[in-house]
Amino acid sequence: MKTYFKRWGALLVSFWLPLCQAYDAVSPPFEAEPLIVNGDAVPKGKYKFMVAIQNLKLGGSAPYANHWCGGSLIKNRYVVTAAHCMYDDEGALEPSDLTVIAGMTVYGRNQGQARNVAAITVNPKYDSSTKEYDVAVLELDAPVNNLPKVKLPEAGDDDPGTEAVVAGWGSITQYVQNQPPLSKSPVYPEEMREVTLSIQTNGDCSAAYGADFYPEVALCAYAPSRDSCQADSGGPLFKKIGNRWTLVGIVSWGAGCAAPGIPGIYTRVTNAEVQAFIQEVIGQ
Ligand code: ARG
Repeated sequence: MKTYFKRWGALLVSFWLPLCQAYDAVSPPFEAEPLIVNGDAVPKGKYKFMVAIQNLKLGGSAPYANHWCGGSLIKNRYVVTAAHCMYDDEGALEPSDLTVIAGMTVYGRNQGQARNVAAITVNPKYDSSTKEYDVAVLELDAPVNNLPKVKLPEAGDDDPGTEAVVAGWGSITQYVQNQPPLSKSPVYPEEMREVTLSIQTNGDCSAAYGADFYPEVALCAYAPSRDSCQADSGGPLFKKIGNRWTLVGIVSWGAGCAAPGIPGIYTRVTNAEVQAFIQEVIGQ
């Protein structure tokens, strides 16, 4: 995968970056369907704990143009996202590069509450080459008003065979790595979309990714022809447990999007160090 990136990276970077700088953002789409990939539009106000993270360095003027990553409100002033979302090809982003829109469903409709970012804390154990510990916490400059928050998971909440939802404003274009033609670009929706996936066994994740899958700090989730994709990163893989939205994963990376038999990879939020990191930053 990484070797492939070196070969095709320069050519394809203009298609898939800057919305996703991860090394998975490498290969040509294989087939495009309005297929998050093959998901459904989220009804307005359904997942108000979701946030959109915009990168002002993209310099776009249309509302969607600066969309960068997803995230989850964990407290009125704090957002959990992916560590890899805090870097672009020039290096680490600054708080002033980012805007967070909380409680929005559709871009460009004056929905939600916009906040500036006061501080970015990337997990010190994040490894940009392996994507281990792909978690960061944003502190907002002011608390959001009246929005639901996600809860951290407990052991067992990410058991294989259970279902979880992933939502975001990421690309809806299916693509398969290493499959020509080189012609398809990602397609980004203005409305939040969601898919329901099944959490896989570590054995299944390793079968797809070999040594690139780190079971302690990552999980993988799959449903045929459904997946998260570029610019969904940082967003939640979640379940409703009791009456609380529970954050079991953070969109991290994958080989292609909705490629047959290939799950997406999520930061494992039940991991004790991931959770201790979040709790320390948010102060509880
Ligand atoms: N790294 C991508 C991003 O930054 C997310 C890719 C998720 N891929 C997948 N097949 N589930 O937006």
